[in-house]
Amino acid sequence: MANNRQYRSKTLFVGTRGVKEYRSSIPVWVNESDTVLEIGCEWGTTTTIIAERAAAVIGTDVSHTVIERARERHPHIRFETLDAFDVRAALELDEDFTKIYIDMSGISGYRSLLDLIALLNSYAAVLRPEAIVVKSGALKDFASRCMAFGDDGARHDRALEDG
Ligand SMILES: C[S@@+](CC[C@H](N)C(=O)[O-])C[C@H]1O[C@@H](n2cnc3c(N)ncnc32)[C@H](O)[C@@H]1O
Repeated sequence: MANNRQYRSKTLFVGTRGVKEYRSSIPVWVNESDTVLEIGCEWGTTTTIIAERAAAVIGTDVSHTVIERARERHPHIRFETLDAFDVRAALELDEDFTKIYIDMSGISGYRSLLDLIALLNSYAAVLRPEAIVVKSGALKDFASRCMAFGDDGARHDRALEDG
């Protein structure tokens, strides 16, 4: 039987819509003490923006071709080929990640929301970052309509008023 003790993860999940919003979250969520993992880095454009703010960052992508390109473009940043669904491989990067950024093709819509939530929970359980920022309009929309029962009665009233 599920109980509150099972849900002790402190990882926050942050939903962003579109690449502009995903990148604009960096000054808000990343600081100079952070070690950041980016999943789905492609050519490393966002990874370089994170690198300007964080103590360290590793960009990862399932495509070896894009990782080669990212390494050529940004030789000062570490990039590794990694399938996001292989959480064990992420653990083997052997870093104490405090923040994780995820921008993977195929996981931003409502159809893949359950897969995304399962993935987020896996990373929260295994790597235990403080926050995972993900580019998913569906997660952002869903999260904006979620609340934990009993935490704040006033919010309940407000949610009903807002309709
Ligand atoms: C929209 S691009 C990322 C753009 C990049 N984050 C940026 O801001 O420039 C999506 C990336 O997700 C990667 N991807 C798709 N499935 C993946 C998986 N299972 N694991 C890791 N990366 C994956 C793709 O190879 C692609 O490079």
